[in-house]
Amino acid sequence: MLDQSNILIDVHVHTDPDRVKQEIRNGLLSSPKKLPTKYFYDDRGSALFEQICELPEYYPARTEFQLLKNTADDVVAQTGADTLVELGSGAATKTRVLFDAMSRAKQLRLYVPFDVSEGIVRRVAQELVEEYQGLQVHGIVGDFLAHLEHIPEGGKRLVAFLGGTIGNLGPEEALAFLSSIYEEMGHGDFFLLGVQLTTDVNRLEAAYNDSAGITETFNKNILSVLQSVIGAEFDLDAFEHIARFNHEQHRIEIYLRSRRDQAIPIPELDLHLRLHEGEEILTEISTKYTRPQVETLLTGAGFSPVEWYTDPDHLHGLALAKKR
Ligand code: AVJ
Repeated sequence: MLDQSNILIDVHVHTDPDRVKQEIRNGLLSSPKKLPTKYFYDDRGSALFEQICELPEYYPARTEFQLLKNTADDVVAQTGADTLVELGSGAATKTRVLFDAMSRAKQLRLYVPFDVSEGIVRRVAQELVEEYQGLQVHGIVGDFLAHLEHIPEGGKRLVAFLGGTIGNLGPEEALAFLSSIYEEMGHGDFFLLGVQLTTDVNRLEAAYNDSAGITETFNKNILSVLQSVIGAEFDLDAFEHIARFNHEQHRIEIYLRSRRDQAIPIPELDLHLRLHEGEEILTEISTKYTRPQVETLLTGAGFSPVEWYTDPDHLHGLALAKKR
């Protein structure tokens, strides 16, 4: 299956350009207007997100990293996993913490990074086979909402969905997604879910309004991605970055707000996009959870919760669950 380099990468993401167009078109025609969050993550967007993770205001990344450091040995002992499947693997920074624990336990065999960004999957695969002796990597480039069935079978699997990426999904979507993960998993496999917890609004909003403006650049990158995907020419200066907490839905919402009335022809979508001054396009939601909400979600999807880990300030949670 895997070649001499111990690496195999399957690419599923470029399969259907019509579907991509349809998805973007539907978003721009809905009200309020929105764009699919995954379009943040071309290679530049992934690099910008890595920079966000280094920002002083963006506490979730370092909090989860520290939490994983404290709990990885326990997770590995409880699961006995030799295969790590990571959904939205990105730069795999946190992965290394789990790998170190798996190799201490002498049970590291296969890594399945799953991400929309091909460049980053290839880079991470290369780096990790060099760093971990004998490790095999079977990468999947795809949309985890659409291509879960391509995850390879076999092994004692730990499926990880970290960083709070679940927060990008609305409530029904989150439940449907966890249910489809559950369906893909085998009996005896474990699931590790990283969630950002609800905390005070100032801290939450600051994390998405950093003073260096990296989050703004990241947000506007979605417009550059649209330019390359569907040829739409946006004037980035005509948009303002907005991030605010929605109390009812307990989530940060990120928008691009039009600074003026504008009309953008998008021939490839057969669309003449009109925006009035102050109109907002929703580009991302980042839902914050409480422990009971997470447990309801997990059990609703079929999982049996096994363990709950959190940091001393209760900013982040890691839920370990099992498919019985
Ligand atoms: C990768 C979805 C976890 O919601 O905190 C960070 C993305 N967006 N800053 C988050 C993000 C703006 C991040 N997740």
